Amino acid sequence: MSGSSVRLTISGVGHRYDDLPVLEEIDLVADAGRVLVLIGPSGCGKSTLLGIIGGLIVPTAGTVRMDGQVAEDCLNPLTPVFQDFALLPWRSVAGNVSLVLEGRLPRREREARVAEVLALTGLGDFAGAWPKQLSGGMRQRVGIARALAVRPACLLMDEPLSALDAQTRALLLDEFAELIERAGTTTVYVTHNLNEAVRLGHRIAVLSRRPGRVRAVLEIDRPINGRSAADPSLVAIEQQLWDMIRDDAVLAERERVIA
Ligand SMILES: Nc1ncnc2c1ncn2[C@@H]1O[C@H](COP(=O)(O)OP(=O)(O)OP(=O)(O)O)[C@@H](O)[C@H]1O
Ligand SMILES: [Mg+2]
Repeated sequence: MSGSSVRLTISGVGHRYDDLPVLEEIDLVADAGRVLVLIGPSGCGKSTLLGIIGGLIVPTAGTVRMDGQVAEDCLNPLTPVFQDFALLPWRSVAGNVSLVLEGRLPRREREARVAEVLALTGLGDFAGAWPKQLSGGMRQRVGIARALAVRPACLLMDEPLSALDAQTRALLLDEFAELIERAGTTTVYVTHNLNEAVRLGHRIAVLSRRPGRVRAVLEIDRPINGRSAADPSLVAIEQQLWDMIRDDAVLAERERVIA
């Protein structure tokens, strides 16, 4: 679906909020058409890094470069997907998706794109529904449809499943894997959930406790669509990730309690 093929190179990125150092010396690459997962304990700077990649936050050090081909029909190269869905309650499902296209595409083309992404995300029968009539899972499908509608070169996903119950999360995880792989969109995916990390990641970067640094980078060089949570090799990688972040997670949790 997406004709874009871009690679993101994060070089020497550091950030501080006033006196608080949040990120230090981050060097990472998100390869074209692949999923880079960022994991790490609470408060280690994951959302800040995603904001820097998306151009919403100017880092205090370093650069993020985007190389490659952005398709002509791409309306927003770096497109976010939010944890809380960020839908407008006074707009229908189709209206929420259409919003990002208004003033940018002629009506007929807009309607065709909206219909296409609603069908892709299983929302074809819900075009006229209101957000408040939808379950959390359906709302996040709208969030995904809206993101895909701009034909992004890169999806920036910040814990998109964390507000959902376990069953819905499992369903959407399968759908994300299929959609992302089919669209071939470069993706940066932030999660706390190690199972999500091994299901979706081609590359998993483990950040340390704040100030976040890259502790390790793991590669899982195989398709994400059809990966199973029960696959012994993925279970082993998940365990390896947990062994790496457990101590940091305990310390981050204590800091939170004290703060
Ligand atoms: N705008 C801001 N001003 C000051 N401090 C901030 C700001 N945004 C975040 N912080 C602090 O920076 C640190 C990193 O925040 P960030 O949200 O990037 O972490 P995170 O890894 O996404 O955390 P979580 O896992 O809880 O989502 C935290 O200590 C947070 O309180
Ligand atoms: Mg965050």
